[in-house]
Amino acid sequence: MKVTVVGAGNVGATVANVLATKAFASEVVLIDIKEGLSEGKAMDIMQTAHMLNFDTKVTGVTNNYAATAGSQVIVITSGIPRKPGMSREDLIGVNSGIVGGVMKSCLEYSPDAIFIIVSNPMDAMTYLALKNSKLPKNRIIGQGGMLDSSRFRYFLAQALTEAGYPATPTDIDGMVVGGHSDKTMVPLVSIATYRGIPVTQLLSAEKIQQVVEDTKVGGATLTKLLGTSAWYAPGAAAAALVEAIALDAKKLIPCCVYLEGEYGEDDLCIGVPVILGKDGVEKIVEVQFSEDEKAKFAESVAAARETNSKLGDALK
Ligand code: 2OP
Repeated sequence: MKVTVVGAGNVGATVANVLATKAFASEVVLIDIKEGLSEGKAMDIMQTAHMLNFDTKVTGVTNNYAATAGSQVIVITSGIPRKPGMSREDLIGVNSGIVGGVMKSCLEYSPDAIFIIVSNPMDAMTYLALKNSKLPKNRIIGQGGMLDSSRFRYFLAQALTEAGYPATPTDIDGMVVGGHSDKTMVPLVSIATYRGIPVTQLLSAEKIQQVVEDTKVGGATLTKLLGTSAWYAPGAAAAALVEAIALDAKKLIPCCVYLEGEYGEDDLCIGVPVILGKDGVEKIVEVQFSEDEKAKFAESVAAARETNSKLGDALK
């Protein structure tokens, strides 16, 4: 399988690096507009091949989309990251132009690709990619839920350990739906479990509320610490989606997808649980939310619609 990663910044390079070390793809092409950046990062990754024991061929190119031809999966990370104090939504003006152009160039050379959108504000960028490309909805997937769920599991594991139930994130099952947004993402507390035990049985309501708040601002907290947005977990999350598609794994993962009546919503891209396999989004799974989660999901939907209304001329 050939995979292209557009954008060789921190997130894009991490996607390429994780894909290389997982070694299920035969080829990964890293492309960026900045002269030499992709070439350098690809070469650096390839110089780990012997030590990390992988045969995936990673190449880097500057703005040469011909080199991406025939990619089965394309990950778009292009655009500017947020700085401390910015919301993801603040990036819409600059990033919508970039993502629109990148989609067009990619499709010229890989008309059958499945796209994973990482650029922020991700839900709006996924909507833009879908509307402008007119591709079937199974082939446009926004990455947010995988990352946010991973952060949710991390904070739950911390809280459980403090409460006397030693846990690592792999002991936890938990999912975040709704928009990939500090204010409106929805960690699904009602179905979060620790080795099958509902976390609501083990943690106080106050502790759970703290976990929810920490999860929602998980990206912003890192942006404050790092001076730019995070990359290890966002990169690993995008690579996990590529893996589910490449291996036809039929994994249940919350992803940002186009809704046409599911969850009572229409004409919107937002995070919900889906089955990911070789065809991309193979099924949207409708799980039961608690009353509180339903209300929060509705708020998230309203916020995502409001952000989409700012896409303006970028939306064709
Ligand atoms: C994050 O939440 C970059 O949106 C990404 O870290």
